[in-house]
Amino acid sequence: MPVARTPIVVVVSLLLAAAAFFAGMLVMEYRGDTLRTAAREVKSVVVPRGPGQPAPYFGDLQSVAEVNVRDAVLDEVYAGLAFPWAFEFVSDTQLLITEFAGQFKVLDVTTGAVSEVAGTIPTLASAAGTQQIGLLDVALHPQFSRNGLIYFSHAVEDPQDSKLRALAVSRARFDGASITEVQQLLVAEPFGKSPSNFGGALEFDRQGLLYVATGDRSRRDQSQNPGALTGKILRLQDDGSVPPDNPFIGVANPYNPKLMIDSRIYAMGVRNPQGLHYDAVSSIMYETEHGPMGGDEVNRIDAGGNYGWPVITYGANYSTELIGRGSAMAGMVQPLFYYLPSLAISPIAVYRGDMFGEWDGDLLVGAMKSSAVSKLDVVEGSVKSERQILQEVRGRVRDIKVAADGSIYFLVQNGGRVLRLSRDPALLGGKVRDGRQIYNIACVTCHQSGTTDVPALRDAKAWSARVAKGREALYASALEGIGNMPARGFCENCTDEEIRQAVDYMLDEIAK
Ligand code: HEC
Repeated sequence: MPVARTPIVVVVSLLLAAAAFFAGMLVMEYRGDTLRTAAREVKSVVVPRGPGQPAPYFGDLQSVAEVNVRDAVLDEVYAGLAFPWAFEFVSDTQLLITEFAGQFKVLDVTTGAVSEVAGTIPTLASAAGTQQIGLLDVALHPQFSRNGLIYFSHAVEDPQDSKLRALAVSRARFDGASITEVQQLLVAEPFGKSPSNFGGALEFDRQGLLYVATGDRSRRDQSQNPGALTGKILRLQDDGSVPPDNPFIGVANPYNPKLMIDSRIYAMGVRNPQGLHYDAVSSIMYETEHGPMGGDEVNRIDAGGNYGWPVITYGANYSTELIGRGSAMAGMVQPLFYYLPSLAISPIAVYRGDMFGEWDGDLLVGAMKSSAVSKLDVVEGSVKSERQILQEVRGRVRDIKVAADGSIYFLVQNGGRVLRLSRDPALLGGKVRDGRQIYNIACVTCHQSGTTDVPALRDAKAWSARVAKGREALYASALEGIGNMPARGFCENCTDEEIRQAVDYMLDEIAK
């Protein structure tokens, strides 16, 4: 097929001056998180910014949360993709995007130019959104920059019976404009009638092995059947062959001792996986999957693991009848985190980067039903808190990728949009918030109440000896911390000058 190039579409990404001009229309200040280390967690408030409101909004809310990412913006980089499903950075500035109906597109995130990739790929596709049959995930070979190899998952039909389909994985060469040498590496048999639960997430690990997450194709018993490739995590070499250290090589199938377990199986017992993400820092492969009704899961995938579906689950059937035998069983792995009710979670990314350094190692899970991103704070391998952020995406989040500069890209089904969350201190316009504002943002939670060891602002007696130390000494205490007083009152991005002004404000109040 010849290349059908779409006209270049002008990017909506905004310059700073334009950001101020269009305040409230296209740029949204992001203020949806809570500082984890806060003395008490204050539920964050997302304040919509209407026309005429200052940009950015500094606020007077009594929450340490408000200072956390007050300099972040969400830009719309592109709108108008047709039912996009997944994307990958093929260079620092270019995204390769899959559209469900079987089209690959390339978006240049700096210019907003989109082009269709030429070349036919062997996928079936149902009318977008009606069923789950189509072109799904894409992954790049670890040496993509040298060999141009891409891998993609898609639905195929049974050559013997066109009513039956299965998930397939193909490999091809992509040169920036077209796809050639398409080669099918895997069909996750058995074929089945169901139009749903294909799964299809793809990811490489550090060793260059390809993981494929397959859905149960609505035949839940198959997830525990080691003879079927559905409801599994498979692991392949880059040419589709079996890695020599796969966990079930040479192991007899317990259901049929005359057969061996399919050696491509790496883990089993999954339902409808939507995301795989390998975090090279922790060497952990994360998986996300849709539960039945309730019980969407985030799993840590390890060799030979049985993730329990449908024997154990936190969800119920859509008819609300219970499934399986409860939520825990010996020999079956517990999820790292699960959602009740479900958010209809989609892919997952682990944040690694400098731009949002305080999120390092946190998991970002797309949510489709609730149009948000679920941020999981992971400490020493377990989830300490969950918070839904970025309701500003206004749509079903289909994919999430962290760019080389630490900004975060979201693929949103509604409107076929690509959004970018970034941070730019210049957006604060060099404004210094006054001492009262900083006090209300970062100090009030402790100093208002005056719990036992905190000198309350209204308690003149508690301050007399401290005031006697002199202003410079108090500035130093506030900046560096003293006793149980945390340095800067936990305000990670208050400037020194802002902290000094907060101390000045406190001293004025004490003197009254
Ligand atoms: C997590 C609770 C907490 C927060 C938040 C907090 N403080 Fe404090 N602050 C304390 C405690 C506790 C002390 C007493 C420390 C001591 O002397 O042992 C204190 C003491 C102080 C003192 C007296 C220091 C001295 O040398 O005697 C100043 C000034 C002060 N805080 C300023 C601030 C400012 C400004 C902020 C906001 C930017 C702030 N605090 C936020 C807990 C807090």
